[in-house]
Amino acid sequence: MSNSTGTYLVTGGAGYVGGVVAARLLAAGHAVTVLDDLSTGFREGVPAGAEFIEGRVQDAAKWLDRSFDAVLHFAAFSQVGESVADPEKYWRNNVGGSVELLRAMRQAGVRTLVFSSTAAVYGEPAVTPITEDAPTAPTNPYGASKLAVDHMIAGECAAHGLAAVSLRYFNVAGAHGAQGERHDPETHLIPLVLRTALGERAHLSVFGEDYPTPDGTCVRDYIHVDDLADAHLLALGAAAAGEHLVCNLGNGNGFSVREVIGTAREVTGRPIPEVVAERRAGDPAVLVASAERARQRLGWQPTRPALADIIADAWTFARRQHRSEGSTTP
Ligand code: UFG
Repeated sequence: MSNSTGTYLVTGGAGYVGGVVAARLLAAGHAVTVLDDLSTGFREGVPAGAEFIEGRVQDAAKWLDRSFDAVLHFAAFSQVGESVADPEKYWRNNVGGSVELLRAMRQAGVRTLVFSSTAAVYGEPAVTPITEDAPTAPTNPYGASKLAVDHMIAGECAAHGLAAVSLRYFNVAGAHGAQGERHDPETHLIPLVLRTALGERAHLSVFGEDYPTPDGTCVRDYIHVDDLADAHLLALGAAAAGEHLVCNLGNGNGFSVREVIGTAREVTGRPIPEVVAERRAGDPAVLVASAERARQRLGWQPTRPALADIIADAWTFARRQHRSEGSTTP
């Protein structure tokens, strides 16, 4: 990215990843406006120093103008299980919001976009690690909705010269200081494991132990949210008019659900009881990234790739959250 400062619209900047990226942009000296309807994000998640607009992506045309150098588009629903149960919610919001955002950007003359795509577009991969050329066959409506937006962006680049980078996140975890993962309800593995370590939950449910993996539980590629944020700042500099660049972001190492629980026991020094439960609908067995393209095209280099470090930062955040919610247990 160049040293000059820019002005950026961050949709979904009250959420976990969007909030961290907004903070990193501000720290680099840029001006940031967050657009978020607070349907899943939190007002406190918007970093100090950002302008905040409480509003929907569908209405982005109200606020977008030429003063913005680029849009970073995070606003979306992102729960695999929920998307299986209520697919329309995902099409309406994730796809509908993005259609309007692309139109508003074109009308306002804002021609650079960084989009939060996902590993869920690949579905059950035939080959691991997954490269960007792998077939896309999502196993749930969440992944299908993000893939539809990727196709939409590709068309916008080809037809109207948009400069766009889609970053396909694998499993994001960890925290950036006081900014960490917080969903209501929480469904993600690492926060739930840590809430179990804190005694907020009696046990962690392991969703299936009969997958074709070494210990039978699902394998995922965990990436630190700060490393992910780095890629967004680099992507702003790498975006080129008329090109839709797609990059996977992961560490290239797979960890099973049981390995995550084991590492969390070591990091926290606490017992984390587990029980085996049914498989969760829509879960592929193994998702591990090849991030070779991100390294080459973005110059991306992860600095916190170790699972224990990722969990340690998430643990610091989880304890802080636990205390702020008024619990008396440490
Ligand atoms: N899991 C459990 N018990 C739990 C919660 C999760 O066993 O209580 C398992 C899941 O079944 C899965 C693994 O832990 O096998 C990871 O689950 P997460 O819900 O933490 O994450 P997902 O892999 O389902 O999805 C995440 C993001 C998606 C993204 C995907 C890409 O939520 O947005 O990673 O890898 F698309």
